[in-house]
Amino acid sequence: MKEIKNNSLRLSDVSRNVTLYGWVAKKRDLGGVCFIDLRDRSGIVQLVARDGEIYEVASGLKSESVLKVNGVVMERESKNPNMETGDIEVELSSIEVLNSSGDLPFEIVDDTTALEDTRLKYRYLDIRRNSIKNNLITRHKIMMAARKFLDSEEFVEVETPILCKSTPEGARDYLVPSRVSKGSFYALPQSPQLFKQLLMVGGLEKYFQIAKCFRDEDLRSDRQPEFTQIDLEMSFVNEEDVMSLTERLLQKIFKEVKGISLALPLRRMKYDDAIRYYGSDKPDLRFDMPIHTVSDIFKDSSFQVFKNAISEDGSVVCIKVDGKSCEFSRKKIDALTEYVKTYKVKGLPYVKYENGEFVSGISKFLSDSEKTLLIEKFDLKDNDMLFFGADKNRVVYTAMGALRLKLGKDLDLIDTNRYELLWVTEFPSFEWSEEEGRYLACHHPFTAPLDRDIDKLLTDKAHCYSRAYDIVINGYEAGGGSIRIHDEKVQEKMFQALELSEEDIQDKFGFFVEALKYGTPPHGGLALGLDRLTMLLSGTDNIRDVIAFPKTTSASDLMSECPNTVSCEQLKDLSISVK
Ligand code: AMO
Repeated sequence: MKEIKNNSLRLSDVSRNVTLYGWVAKKRDLGGVCFIDLRDRSGIVQLVARDGEIYEVASGLKSESVLKVNGVVMERESKNPNMETGDIEVELSSIEVLNSSGDLPFEIVDDTTALEDTRLKYRYLDIRRNSIKNNLITRHKIMMAARKFLDSEEFVEVETPILCKSTPEGARDYLVPSRVSKGSFYALPQSPQLFKQLLMVGGLEKYFQIAKCFRDEDLRSDRQPEFTQIDLEMSFVNEEDVMSLTERLLQKIFKEVKGISLALPLRRMKYDDAIRYYGSDKPDLRFDMPIHTVSDIFKDSSFQVFKNAISEDGSVVCIKVDGKSCEFSRKKIDALTEYVKTYKVKGLPYVKYENGEFVSGISKFLSDSEKTLLIEKFDLKDNDMLFFGADKNRVVYTAMGALRLKLGKDLDLIDTNRYELLWVTEFPSFEWSEEEGRYLACHHPFTAPLDRDIDKLLTDKAHCYSRAYDIVINGYEAGGGSIRIHDEKVQEKMFQALELSEEDIQDKFGFFVEALKYGTPPHGGLALGLDRLTMLLSGTDNIRDVIAFPKTTSASDLMSECPNTVSCEQLKDLSISVK
């Protein structure tokens, strides 16, 4: 058995006889003496082969061959301060090639230039690279920290089913055909939501699970079809209880994984404020540059765009860029204009404030009083710049939120070594779906409305707010949850609000509605996205980098080549024919 970690050897080990195992990461053959970097999970140690026969074997080694070696730890003549084992090397007395490697599809180095598709096809080789390996170790540490913490808080880990009933609200389900009940299907869980609530009905009081979830939705760099949640639920709690438990969980994770002390309580921001000031329900607070609503200043504006927005119940909003007006050439502004247009605003009016005057852009449309008010409000100094948005609220805040992020990145305003966490609370209960022409649940249909808004469920959906909360880290939605509806009658109203027919309700959620009749405690919970949390703590913005065997954006696994077709016999067993 392997007993020594390659990366553990130091000057204090000099003269020690060691047996080491690992892969040939690098070989330098100087003729008569050959240096090998031997890699194991812990890192690299340099081996030296001098002796005739050993040198012969060493010089013939192929990269990534697997070795067992014996040797003596020696102090290096020329030390390498960039390596943890850089003070020593191991003078070999024997080499055993346990397995040699074929020609590699790409070189296994940290700064690889291999295409991601190649790396995914040979993922097991990619995992040998430090970055992927370390991400998987970070992921493990997060899971362990979560398990230890939640156990210490008396949570019970329960596994909920993977073969479930399809309850399509939210993303599309992955379906699994039943062989026994022909024509019937299971669905893979989008989350353990109903089961964890039923565990509360079952009196478990505190549940958690590191749960696999499956959603057939369009993929992005922070979304996978198969992902993992640190899922929890608690009885007899309100939102403050769940948020404070989650904060302590995150505090533990940040400490154990990154050595970072999070100051609690975390900042809280209502959804409406997040939209108003940052144009996003997941604001990145690593930099400031908020959105200002300036409709008041322009209430009598002669500028048609502003006039129209205000008269149509929209808003005029503004982002100020400090002292950088010179950096915005016509070409740059045109590019930004095209960028914001993808968010459905019609343009990007702007003014520059240079030498005590408003110049360029829409300056000529500003009245003297508007100019004075802008100078006062923004305390304008030379070379400041104002970008405006004017449109319907739903459009303008999102567009300016996207502009804010882009400016933050382009102007290098984001401190990437910082973590900014906040809670976004009081989400709307519903969001309007243009596609479906009806209101959908903003979180899910089991989320309780604010007590003051229960009556609005059926009468004023647009202004009905919920007891939902998201934990946002550096502009990512790292988790979300809510206090649930535990009253059967309120749940019924919610289903009605979502325009589900009685038949639909019975068909999809009958078992759940039934359970609410038998003494359901007040309860609530949350799920952290383990993959996103690992991304954030690993410093990558690609979710595939933190999953051992991820799918591509077209939801396929390039290594095993799935999804794939199946045999006619398999389909016949399931009574399925493919068109
Ligand atoms: P929600 O749908 O907000 O809530 O999911 C919780 C968290 O899971 C992560 N997440 C994803 N990560 C990777 N790929 C995806 N496709 C993906 N979708 C979601 C996000 C998100 O914040 N049952 C509720 C939780 C609850 O109410 O307790 C739920 O699933 O980080």
